[in-house]
Amino acid sequence: MPRPSISLSRAIAAAVIAAAGRAHQQPAVQAQSASTLKDAFAGVFRVGAALNANQFTERDAKGAALVKAQFNTTTPENVLKWEVVHPQPTTYDFGQSDRYVAFGEANGMFIVGHTLVWHSQTPRWVFQDANGAPLTRDALLARMRDHIQTVVGRYKGRVKGWDVVNEALNEDGTMRRSPWLTIIGDDFIEKAFQYARDADPAAELYYNDYNLEAAAKRNGAAELVKRLKAKGIPIAAVGSQTHEKLYNTATAAKLDTTISVLGALGVKVNITELDVDVLPAATQNRTADVGVTAQQGMSAAVNPYANGLPDAVQQALARRYADLFSVFVKHRGTVDRVTFWGVGDGDSWLNNWPMRGRTNYPLLFDRQDAPKPAFDAVLQSARQVPNGRGR
Ligand code: XIL
Repeated sequence: MPRPSISLSRAIAAAVIAAAGRAHQQPAVQAQSASTLKDAFAGVFRVGAALNANQFTERDAKGAALVKAQFNTTTPENVLKWEVVHPQPTTYDFGQSDRYVAFGEANGMFIVGHTLVWHSQTPRWVFQDANGAPLTRDALLARMRDHIQTVVGRYKGRVKGWDVVNEALNEDGTMRRSPWLTIIGDDFIEKAFQYARDADPAAELYYNDYNLEAAAKRNGAAELVKRLKAKGIPIAAVGSQTHEKLYNTATAAKLDTTISVLGALGVKVNITELDVDVLPAATQNRTADVGVTAQQGMSAAVNPYANGLPDAVQQALARRYADLFSVFVKHRGTVDRVTFWGVGDGDSWLNNWPMRGRTNYPLLFDRQDAPKPAFDAVLQSARQVPNGRGR
């Protein structure tokens, strides 16, 4: 795909503005002249990134500057997960999350909290009593309530949206048999949402999961949304993690359906953890189950781009991002936010999952934080917005 340079984009934009002046039409001026993600999609959807501690403490000054320049919403990659914020039954530790929230406030970000109820990165003690025996339903509900009240309550009015429940569905659309489900029962989700609403009635509450583009899981999510809505549970959006793989060629089309189906149920559909894994599969697991990791040894077959990404793959990545963003832009009435799971390639979790120590290239910025062809492709996709405003 030929890729106009930024200066060429500006020249095109200037020509469009001039032509529009003559024709008295309103062109997508804003989108066409923008050179940052947040400006290109202003009025369309928010664009964000998951931040690590080096970024939000500004130890990584370059990364922090890039975040401020490009994004208007942030998600904490790890620091609001249970194991970090609530490591022991009576110990909460908000050292890192306070800094995450302060960074967001100082920079005018729409601050997202991730995540309250999940089976992963949650200590084992959460589900056990003092003797190591499984908790009763009532005791686990009380613990969940305490956690949600304490964490959401601390950031009331400041964290604007919460991933209340993460990854509660199996690939076939049934409920995952996590300790939350087996101990509490399938109303654990509505309870979590109720506790979150009580703790901050103004916060947006989300259900978040991966592989929602697949039909069976999409249907499971749709059933879940219907169930919650029927009970008056305040779910604002479903988060589609969208951990895409370059070798999956059908995701954009499937996601198109997922956004339509879920959006029709009266929820927003946000893209919450976007990245595109360019490496060959290291395991049979083709989704984003953090519990599944590769056992095999490192070889060029599973780590082919250790010395750089071939241009053909670079261009394929850009095209994939363009395809995905055409779908997001098409559904701009339903998609409120597109968040990348990281900023530059060097920091991506995909260098270490599902196999440690590979060299991956899943994001819009390279290891020096320079924009890649995929960045330009995403900016270009903002041109598809009629009149530059989507909602
Ligand atoms: C990942 C983080 O990026 C890693 O740093 C951590 O080691 C494991 O978790 N789905 C989610 C995210 O909802 O929280 C996960 O984040 C990626 C998959």
